[in-house]
Amino acid sequence: MSAQVRPAAIVTGASRGIGAEIARRLAVEGHDLTISARGREALDDLATELREAHGVDVLVVTTDMSSEDDVRRLAHEHADHFKRLDVLVLNAGMGDIGAFADYPVRRFDKMYMVNVRSAFVLTQDLLPLLRTAGSSTVRGGKIIAIASTTGVVGEPLNSAYGATKAALISWCETISTEESVGGVVATAVCPGYVATDMTKGLSDTLSQDHMLPVADVAEAALSLTRLSRQTVVPSIVLTRPGAHLWRA
Ligand SMILES: NC(=O)c1ccc[n+]([C@@H]2O[C@H](COP(=O)([O-])OP(=O)(O)OC[C@H]3O[C@@H](n4cnc5c(N)ncnc54)[C@H](OP(=O)(O)O)[C@@H]3O)[C@@H](O)[C@H]2O)c1
Repeated sequence: MSAQVRPAAIVTGASRGIGAEIARRLAVEGHDLTISARGREALDDLATELREAHGVDVLVVTTDMSSEDDVRRLAHEHADHFKRLDVLVLNAGMGDIGAFADYPVRRFDKMYMVNVRSAFVLTQDLLPLLRTAGSSTVRGGKIIAIASTTGVVGEPLNSAYGATKAALISWCETISTEESVGGVVATAVCPGYVATDMTKGLSDTLSQDHMLPVADVAEAALSLTRLSRQTVVPSIVLTRPGAHLWRA
């Protein structure tokens, strides 16, 4: 009997927070992984943890998602090493708030590069592998982009961040309209405030105890990977308890 081939996934921004938890859960479910972020040390620690605990193959690729060369190298190194891609988790992101009236355009450009343009470039380079998974596996090829409720409904101080997340939501919808017949499905996961390093600065106005736990966002992402290629989920909104419903 031939050895069973494990599915392969990429998780960007996997060094901490939501990305690290999604990577852990994908490893538990038997995925080989490429994990990326800018900082090497936390990625190496996570890779060691996942190899030892779950026996999966983990490739570490340090990547600055604001650099097109880095993003293309990430795609190339994953393809070269694993030669397949079943799940692409576009999680790396930067967040920043500020009034629109004097928000620096250069900061918006950087955020767009990291949050949106990198996803576009990386997915384009990896589409041939996703299409192969789409046409040859029951679950197909999954693209999971971590967007935000600020991309669903506008909020004060989020003109730049919210616009990048709205772009991701739209982009996921379009990819599914073009590629889902071939088994490649894209979903935007849109959480409100999640208790991670990114939201520590908000502790004066909102305690992390009242934010969404990382585990729930990761679980929502994992649930998508268990669906067959016959089901398209354009987006999932996750909101904290209370009257905030469509707001972070
Ligand atoms: N926390 C929230 O309330 C919340 C809500 C909705 C959506 N989200 C989204 O969820 C995703 C993960 O956020 P998080 O809360 O887990 O944040 P986090 O704890 O700050 O983690 C961010 C991750 O992205 C990586 N990253 C940041 N800038 C990067 C760059 N230029 N190139 C490559 N990697 C980069 C970081 O690693 P390095 O610093 O080592 O590069 C880290 O691994 C983001 O897309 C964020 O916008 C967060």
